[in-house]
Amino acid sequence: MGTLRILSGMRPTGKLHLGHYTGALENWVEQQNLLDENGSRVYETCFLIADYHNLTTSLDTGEIYTHTIDMLIDWLAAGVDPEKSPVFRQSQVKEHAELFLIFSMLITSSRLERNPTLKEQVRDLNMESLVYGHLGYPVLQAADILLYKGNVVPVGEDQIPHVEITREIARKFNNHYSHPVVGEVFPEPEPKITKFSRLVGLDGKAKMSKSLGNTIFLSDTPDEVQKKMRNAVTDTQKIRKNDPGRPEICTVFSYHEKFTGGEDLACIEAGCRSGSLGCVDCKKLCAENISKELAPLIEKRRYYETNLDLVKNILIEGENKAREIAGHTMQEVRSAMQLGETSFSRNY
Ligand code: TRP
Repeated sequence: MGTLRILSGMRPTGKLHLGHYTGALENWVEQQNLLDENGSRVYETCFLIADYHNLTTSLDTGEIYTHTIDMLIDWLAAGVDPEKSPVFRQSQVKEHAELFLIFSMLITSSRLERNPTLKEQVRDLNMESLVYGHLGYPVLQAADILLYKGNVVPVGEDQIPHVEITREIARKFNNHYSHPVVGEVFPEPEPKITKFSRLVGLDGKAKMSKSLGNTIFLSDTPDEVQKKMRNAVTDTQKIRKNDPGRPEICTVFSYHEKFTGGEDLACIEAGCRSGSLGCVDCKKLCAENISKELAPLIEKRRYYETNLDLVKNILIEGENKAREIAGHTMQEVRSAMQLGETSFSRNY
């Protein structure tokens, strides 16, 4: 069998933060660069900018291009390699809309109303009513994944229900239609979750999220990281420097777990518990380690920011490649469904 394909995507919300990095981006880059024992890539990778999906919650498109470029620069800075992974906007590959339409016939509205991710969103955003397209969010996502015949979908936990719906749609299509040569047109994709898929916000209350204002951006300078870290929530019972703390409930320690290496981590844990390490020093160290990891990203970001034509070309090329793959899949779909047939067995 050929190489497995990974398809993942993000909505263009502008500059990315550490939560995007640990929850998705870092994992994308790892899979992109993963080699087997023969030195061949394990996965083909495609990364999508879900600009149509943005419309489900906001009709304002004025900033969408800026947000797209800001996000794309973060992808590139974090190691997404456009030579290996085409990057493209959903809206620039018309097959997304086409397959979405067909898929919308393969799933009931009651199934979509039961989508837990949607219910959570309705509750969190206090939405009183839904637009029709928002109900269909996972159907469009299924089209995103299956147009590229994605086998593996690296996503955060909240997206698992969408991958499950994608599998159901693929199954339904394959049960109903068969291509004369390839047989089953679609694979049933598997989700792949990262270990650090939920990074808590600096306020310690929820996940890191731009709308909650509790983020560290990938583009934050060391000074900005230090400043933000000073306000991070720790163990509220550790009031004085020498009070013993509880790392297991401390936001800053959860960042150390990700950004501070083995032995140092053990020292920090012991120091916090015994009270020999105060929060101020602990935070300083944490901020330093985060900035150490971000330093190469910031440097690469600067390079792309001063070479914006390069970024635009990367997008154009990615979209050309995506159109080629998507066009091919749509031909198979039409052929399996006998849509647009021109040779008839009867005398029409
Ligand atoms: N719904 C995803 C999110 O909000 C973004 C997305 C759109 C996506 N299409 C996709 C993710 C296809 C994986 C595969 O995070």
